[in-house]
Amino acid sequence: MRYMGLLHQYKSYLPITEKTPLLTLHEGNTPLIRAEKLSEELGLDLYVKYEGLNPTGSFKDRGMVMAVAKAMEEGSSTIMCASTGNTSAAAAAYAARGGLNCIVLIPNNNIALGKLAQAIIYGAKVIAIEGNFDRALEIVREITAKQPITLVNSVNPYRIEGQKTAAFEVCDQLGKAPDYLAIPVGNAGNITAYWKGFKEYQAAGKSSSLPQMIGFEAEGAMAIVKGEPILNPETVATAIRIGNPASWDGAVNAANESGGQINYVTDDEILAAYRKLASQEGIFAEPASAASLAGVIKLKREGHFRQGQSVVCVLTGNGLKDPHNAIQSVKAEPLVVEDSEAAVMDAIRQLEQV
Ligand code: F0G
Repeated sequence: MRYMGLLHQYKSYLPITEKTPLLTLHEGNTPLIRAEKLSEELGLDLYVKYEGLNPTGSFKDRGMVMAVAKAMEEGSSTIMCASTGNTSAAAAAYAARGGLNCIVLIPNNNIALGKLAQAIIYGAKVIAIEGNFDRALEIVREITAKQPITLVNSVNPYRIEGQKTAAFEVCDQLGKAPDYLAIPVGNAGNITAYWKGFKEYQAAGKSSSLPQMIGFEAEGAMAIVKGEPILNPETVATAIRIGNPASWDGAVNAANESGGQINYVTDDEILAAYRKLASQEGIFAEPASAASLAGVIKLKREGHFRQGQSVVCVLTGNGLKDPHNAIQSVKAEPLVVEDSEAAVMDAIRQLEQV
């Protein structure tokens, strides 16, 4: 049967009434890809849930389709969010699709160019503040509390509802829940959503076990790991450059209830995992996404897993959103040569020596 999007696919698990429009851009249904070389290298049965193949290139589409459908059902005409880039891209796209206005607040100079391009082309009103994501979210909360505007950050519970469907897909694709679910943690909505999804699917008799949830913050933004908000978070992974996660309790709860943990990875570990995914597996995810794999590599080094255990790394966003980091991180530009066979052969020989 033709895939009709998340709201249609998982209707009975979602807060959908007869009045909810079944809005869709065919989000969800993303592949679970076995990481063959990394499995071998790490002695694990390792998979990636490639969320970068969603319509706007990140997992945010799952939550946004639900939140925007509910905003439409409630008769709202405008949605608003703070964002490190992906939420704003998804909000802008689904607002366009649903015929709503969209306002996005982003930290000036701190979002990947592709994400900014998305918000703009989908027609959102884009405002860049001289402040970080945490401040942007505070302002959005203040404004949406007073104005007739729907907040679509993950503090909107419909976002979590939509995002939990990724856990359903992982169970269906693997035929069971994995032993571990590794995931980047920024504002902590996604780890909260996955854990809710795994528990609901188990309660519905669709999977027999639950994974241990292992979430990874970036070292320069590791508020949960430190146990206190970070005033000036810094990381190369701008998507998770967040110092005071809104779903802090949800993340801690997911880790505790599942017997997992919230840990951290350095920027160097993130970038190494980012390059590894692309060059060894052919999978281009954005830097923040690679925090999940970086975390698994770190825990493996510390002797954490047993041979052959199943691990799913969530790759939250598409690498194409952030070409700047790709080029920077490999420090390679194409070699420019004259347009002749001899010059190209010369260049090939030169490159082989690198
Ligand atoms: N990975 C990517 C690519 C993200 O864009 C985000 C969050 C996360 C991981 C972390 O997910 O916040 O649920 O813990 N991006 C948000 C945004 C903050 O505005 O796009 P989380």
